[in-house]
Amino acid sequence: MSVPVMTVPGEAPPTTAAVRATGLTKTYGSGETAVHALAGVDVEFQRGRFTAIMGPSGSGKSTLMHCLAGLDTATAGQVWLGDTELTRLRDDQLTKLRRERIGFVFQAFNLLPVLSAEENMTLPMQLAGQRPDRAWMDDVVDRLGLRDRLGHRPYELSGGQQQRVAVARALLPRPDVVFADEPTGNLDSRVGAEVLGLLRSSVRETGQTVVMVTHDPVAAAYADRVVLLADGRLAGEVHHPTADAVIDALRGLGG
Ligand SMILES: Nc1ncnc2c1ncn2[C@@H]1O[C@H](COP(=O)(O)OP(=O)(O)OP(=O)(O)O)[C@@H](O)[C@H]1O
Ligand SMILES: [Mg+2]
Repeated sequence: MSVPVMTVPGEAPPTTAAVRATGLTKTYGSGETAVHALAGVDVEFQRGRFTAIMGPSGSGKSTLMHCLAGLDTATAGQVWLGDTELTRLRDDQLTKLRRERIGFVFQAFNLLPVLSAEENMTLPMQLAGQRPDRAWMDDVVDRLGLRDRLGHRPYELSGGQQQRVAVARALLPRPDVVFADEPTGNLDSRVGAEVLGLLRSSVRETGQTVVMVTHDPVAAAYADRVVLLADGRLAGEVHHPTADAVIDALRGLGG
């Protein structure tokens, strides 16, 4: 399968971007105590690419992902998913769009305690009236090492297993974009590598678009591109990142 190579940032026509934002601003509170979690972010994520977002704690990474995924409303600015402007949608339209076109792996996994691992994985598709592709589901379940945990409830799973269920849930419907907020934060390095490998192969082999927050330069090196945030602003990019290049770029932020 050939992957289109487009490396001119900001110059691509809108249709090649899976998701993009202009002037994205998120302010909590007001007056002297206002926190500018996002202070005007222009960013674009190409279709079929794997992008990592990095930056110091509190730099706005989770806020950015939540605004891009329509989980949080921006104070100002616009977000497009393909040709759809999220920032114009009504609540019910946004709920439908999130269900059908976006996968999200939360920093805290947000699994439903009364459902088994398998039921948690397939819930978003059920809500959308769809069924997961069997072969794809088998592949995801096996690669994440969840085969013998499918019938377990979240409280019967380790933190790392819950995290893998959350990753499977996001990948199964093959959404337009998978957003993952530190998807390897609770995993040992071997399992973490398996999750990262699965995310990367979903990009390489099926053209999935993935945007991932991570603190780990080794994890970021699985991505095609790293976007750096500092104090709610873009603070640089690394293309074709290696762990060393990422460490150097982070050092430059003083974070
Ligand atoms: N609901 C809220 N009310 C007030 N301030 C908030 C709220 N949510 C986030 N913030 C602030 O916005 C800023 C950005 O937070 P965010 O969670 O996006 O950071 P982050 O880069 O994801 O950090 P971490 O790496 O620790 O997860 C922080 O200063 C945070 O304290
Ligand atoms: Mg965060």
